[in-house]
Amino acid sequence: MKTLIAANWKMHGDLSWAAKPKAFRDAHGPQNTNVEILICPPAYLIPALVKGSEGQDILIGAQNCHQEQGGAFTGEMSADMVANCGGRYVILGHSERRALFGETDGLVAAKAKSVLASSLVPIICVGESREQREAGDADEVVGAQLKNSIPESADGHKLVIAYEPVWAIGTGLVPTLEDIASMHDHIRGILSARFGENIAQSICILYGGSVKPSNAREILALKDVNGALIGGAGLEMDSLCAIAREAL
Ligand code: PGA
Repeated sequence: MKTLIAANWKMHGDLSWAAKPKAFRDAHGPQNTNVEILICPPAYLIPALVKGSEGQDILIGAQNCHQEQGGAFTGEMSADMVANCGGRYVILGHSERRALFGETDGLVAAKAKSVLASSLVPIICVGESREQREAGDADEVVGAQLKNSIPESADGHKLVIAYEPVWAIGTGLVPTLEDIASMHDHIRGILSARFGENIAQSICILYGGSVKPSNAREILALKDVNGALIGGAGLEMDSLCAIAREAL
């Protein structure tokens, strides 16, 4: 499988950012073909980014969507709408959505079902808090999140999992390489028990939390790490593509 390097722009950017992918490509030429680069901008920028990245080998996605496909849901956007404007992936259950907007595993599963129904790929985020890791509960917490956030109807195709320890997001702190490898192995095992070994091996498992050009190589080289979900270091094409170059 190709390595997936995904940028989560969170609530950053303006219309001028739609020109970033093309400007970078013009300056640096095509990127490593073993790597897929995905940018998930704020929803209102998706159409402009899709247009701005045409022919750039860069995919565009959303950071969230509603679980219903339409209706009286003021302020929301459906998976069909993401698809309609050219988005290909939807990040779901990011720890900020879970902590600040009260998203539960059940809601994440409902959203993921809707994303799959729209022929998009859900990136389901899981990860333990610092207290849970210190208490030795990380495996159990992540296991339960995985079990309950992947919809019953999913068959394991077109699914991406992002392991993002909450305490590593935006803090500059990163788990040890051993801890990342061990959690990714644990996640692969759970996916294997649910979907079978072959399908589990084809599911892309991203690591996220303070990934930057200087630590990307050693993280991306770990077994069962198939890419990265990047916040701060993904806001500039320079550092996003520097990370992508470390995935060899
Ligand atoms: P960070 O964010 O790379 O800034 O730590 C990661 C994320 O929120 O997905």
